[in-house]
Amino acid sequence: MTNLNIPSTVTNKELIDWVTKTAELCQPDTVYWCDGSQEEYDRLCDEMVQSETFIRLNPEKRPNSFLARSHPSDVARVEDRTYICSINKGDAGPTNNWMNPKGMKDILNKKFSGAMKGRTMYVIPFCMGPIGSPISQFGVEISDSPYVAVNMRIMTRMGTPALEALGNGEFVDCLHSVGMPLEEGQEDVAWACSPDPKDKYIVHFPEERSIASYGSGYGGNALLGKKCHALRIASNSGRDEGWLAEHMLIVGVESPDGKKDYVCGAFPSACGKTNFAMLVPPKSFQEEGWKVTTVGDDIAWIKPNDKGTLLAINPENGFFGVAPGTNYKTNPNAMDSIKENSIFTNVALTDDGDVWWEGMDGDPPAHAIDWQGNDWTPESETPAAHPNARFTAPIEQCPVVDEHFDNPDGVPISAFIFGGRRNSVVPLVMQSFNWAFGVYMAATMGSEMTAAAFGNIGEVRRDPFAMLPFAGYHMGDYFSHWLDFGRSIPEPPRIFSVNWFRKGENGEFLWPGFGENMRVLKWVVERSRGRSIGVETPLGWQPKYEHMDWRGLEDFTEEDFNNVMDLDRDLWLKEIASHDDLFFKLYDRLPKELTFIRELLVSNLWRQPEPSLASPRPNDKIEAPKAAAKAE
Ligand code: OXD
Ligand code: MN
Repeated sequence: MTNLNIPSTVTNKELIDWVTKTAELCQPDTVYWCDGSQEEYDRLCDEMVQSETFIRLNPEKRPNSFLARSHPSDVARVEDRTYICSINKGDAGPTNNWMNPKGMKDILNKKFSGAMKGRTMYVIPFCMGPIGSPISQFGVEISDSPYVAVNMRIMTRMGTPALEALGNGEFVDCLHSVGMPLEEGQEDVAWACSPDPKDKYIVHFPEERSIASYGSGYGGNALLGKKCHALRIASNSGRDEGWLAEHMLIVGVESPDGKKDYVCGAFPSACGKTNFAMLVPPKSFQEEGWKVTTVGDDIAWIKPNDKGTLLAINPENGFFGVAPGTNYKTNPNAMDSIKENSIFTNVALTDDGDVWWEGMDGDPPAHAIDWQGNDWTPESETPAAHPNARFTAPIEQCPVVDEHFDNPDGVPISAFIFGGRRNSVVPLVMQSFNWAFGVYMAATMGSEMTAAAFGNIGEVRRDPFAMLPFAGYHMGDYFSHWLDFGRSIPEPPRIFSVNWFRKGENGEFLWPGFGENMRVLKWVVERSRGRSIGVETPLGWQPKYEHMDWRGLEDFTEEDFNNVMDLDRDLWLKEIASHDDLFFKLYDRLPKELTFIRELLVSNLWRQPEPSLASPRPNDKIEAPKAAAKAE
């Protein structure tokens, strides 16, 4: 039996038992407990340079940074291999894959048996959220991948401090294997995984708060603190304990008078969430004293305190961002965050030992090595970086990281923003009438398909709360949890929908996006403070052109604004009718309120005179948001 190397300070019986049992099952050569130190990180990275999993980048250009190239079969999260193994099938709901826990455990036991032969088993203790926060949770990942160990050090609070703070307490057990044991004398490969797409399993046991992942070494499949723990398992804890685990960024917005609000934003994958999380306000806003700071770019855990204020933490400690398209125009703060101490996966390597990807600033290099290790020139027909290529970087390297990012108390949330990717129908910004209408809006958000991966191009894929791949239980119950949660707090934050992606007749984007999104954020924040003005429309409140700050964007005319804001009755009637597809799917657990709200929205639409539903009607009152909140 392998020496378990249990540190003498560890007394957590559950942890010792689990490590013992796992080592017996997986039969690694060695067991190593990660301490999370810099020395350990450097050593593991050096070892991976030796084994060719990592390429050290030019230290002059990208100090202490590395490039990894994954196996071509292992480049993204695998939703069709992701399971929620609740005891009852109904609890997983129709939007998750399910298998009964016993059946799945039989499969996994076979898979994990001897799975770590010839490898080191890393025991990786971690804390999601600041150590000592009442909102944080512990996890321990056991993995046979050193790539996972070093990425977890960036993405979580990992190692001895987490292990000591865990003490004899509870943790989420996260078992991971790349699924490629090495027989005696067998040589390792640079990126170990199980190359058969059907031989990958990303499995959650929500009742046991435990996770098992087999066959993939990539991103959310393997860094189990992220989507698996912080969303799929934590959403179950949140429902049971009265809090929220959400696929949301958190930003601080400070106005010139020094007042600061925090806003959570939910956007589906690939909708520019990281850019919005690090938004650089337009010059005129900066000069006046507006500031945006980053608490998190992907996940928020939100708990009410005893006064009903919602306090949020970012459970993560780093960014695992999509590299292609990131540049000094779209996201200068991300570019500055990845200057050093970063890991790049599946980007291109330049001849001077730096990284490159499509959409980076400047001209493409005349020659590079692409993400698969082949020569690449601008004439090549394939991209140099994989479209889902990633950077892993410590959040503390972000120039605009919020001063309270590490505050165990969390930050108070004033507003929620929900945004999909819609070519038409959905306006630039709208405030829902109250919490329940906001839940409806978030439940029905969606994105037009841009790739054929999930359906027909142009068809709307509903992605409720941007949680479709991440809610660890029945989506209908998830909506009920949100409705109940709102009822339990005296002054719930205001809820807004945004859409940066509306297109004109020639397919051009109607809204400039990026830093200009600050104009919308300002309206949102001031509206939450009871200051900015909105007019009532059939679907919620909207600003008119004169209610927003256009300094520095004078080219954007009132007509342009009306084009991004217009509510078309026919399109909206069709839109609301199409919500049925989702509602029918969830029928057995769909909260009735959502059906009633749907009826109200339809009757509101019919009550308005044409043509311009968005302009105020003669008897419109300008509503202050305080009154809005009472409308519930
Ligand atoms: C992510 C995602 O990688 O949402 O954050 O897919
Ligand atoms: Mn995400």
